[in-house]
Amino acid sequence: MSVRSIEWVGEGIEGRLRFIDQTLLPGRVVYVETVAAEEVAAAIRSLKVRGAPLIGIAAAFGCVLGVRDYGGADGDGVLRRLDEVCRMLAQTRPTAVNLFHALERVRRAGDAARGAGRDGVVKKVLEEALAIAAEERGMCRRIGEAGLELLRPGMRILTHCNAGALATGGMGTALAPVYRAHAEGYGIKVYVDETRPLLQGSRLTAWELMQAGVEVTVLCDGAAAWAMRRRLVDAVLVGADRIAANGDTANKIGTLAAATAARRYGIPFYVFAPSSTIDPEIENGDGIPIEERPLDAITSWAGVRIAPEGVAVFAPAFDVTSAELISAIVTEEGVLRPPFEGRLPGCGSARGRS
Ligand code: MRU
Repeated sequence: MSVRSIEWVGEGIEGRLRFIDQTLLPGRVVYVETVAAEEVAAAIRSLKVRGAPLIGIAAAFGCVLGVRDYGGADGDGVLRRLDEVCRMLAQTRPTAVNLFHALERVRRAGDAARGAGRDGVVKKVLEEALAIAAEERGMCRRIGEAGLELLRPGMRILTHCNAGALATGGMGTALAPVYRAHAEGYGIKVYVDETRPLLQGSRLTAWELMQAGVEVTVLCDGAAAWAMRRRLVDAVLVGADRIAANGDTANKIGTLAAATAARRYGIPFYVFAPSSTIDPEIENGDGIPIEERPLDAITSWAGVRIAPEGVAVFAPAFDVTSAELISAIVTEEGVLRPPFEGRLPGCGSARGRS
């Protein structure tokens, strides 16, 4: 697994942010280099950079670029600029909580360098952004190790959206144990929901798994329940954009349908996420903000209108799967089986494996 979705390149605070433009995959692998926070915000908004952990990492580096642009001499002015950049980045996407956690961390890091001048603040914010990226990489690795206990040789997995290397700074969340199992010769087969309307499954997940030599079958989202009914799937593995304190999980639209079908057909449904995706401030899924995408994603196909002009459209980008449908939540701390209430990392005193 060698996809490097994001990277800080060049010399320290003089560096640049480099990322894969995911809107061009799988046709073209194009790396974009930027020195502008506004370009990072636009990349997040347009899903050139996407996936909850990756959005957080990109935003943190976006803050580095934003404060570096500050031209004034006023020591507090650079912190006001940081604040302004954080606010701009916070408005890009509402559901993935990693974004807000990362912005909060860099804001605090910048504050801690108050009085150190522009370069002092940039240095501190860069250190924090690099720390976030390294932690996310480490969490992916540990999720992969922990999640391996849920897989067995020959298993057939169904996944929805993309929770792999392209969505994180490391080897992925839901795909991390798949990569581990593949490396150990388990012969895992993965069914990938195409993930309407933006096709993160067929464009991104299928691509990155095939790069790694994993056996992949793409199916349309509506075929997932039928595949389960036909006993073609042994487990469903998905990532998350925000997990409430009770375990309710927001993920790409269509996840709830997969979870519901999995329960109907007695198939385990597992959620994989780093603790940066858990929101202890939100009690249950009702409080999770759900992003709506531009309607033309539904009404057009490759630039061609496919729905009647003037038709009403419902276009949520995410849904919430109730904790009761989730067989386990796997974080860097291990495999947690229900009940989740008060037991998720950061949500209570009792932590760790069940
Ligand atoms: O709209 P996207 O492509 O950013 O949505 C991504 C997902 O829903 C992923 O499943 C989630 O962020 C987990 S990524 C490890």
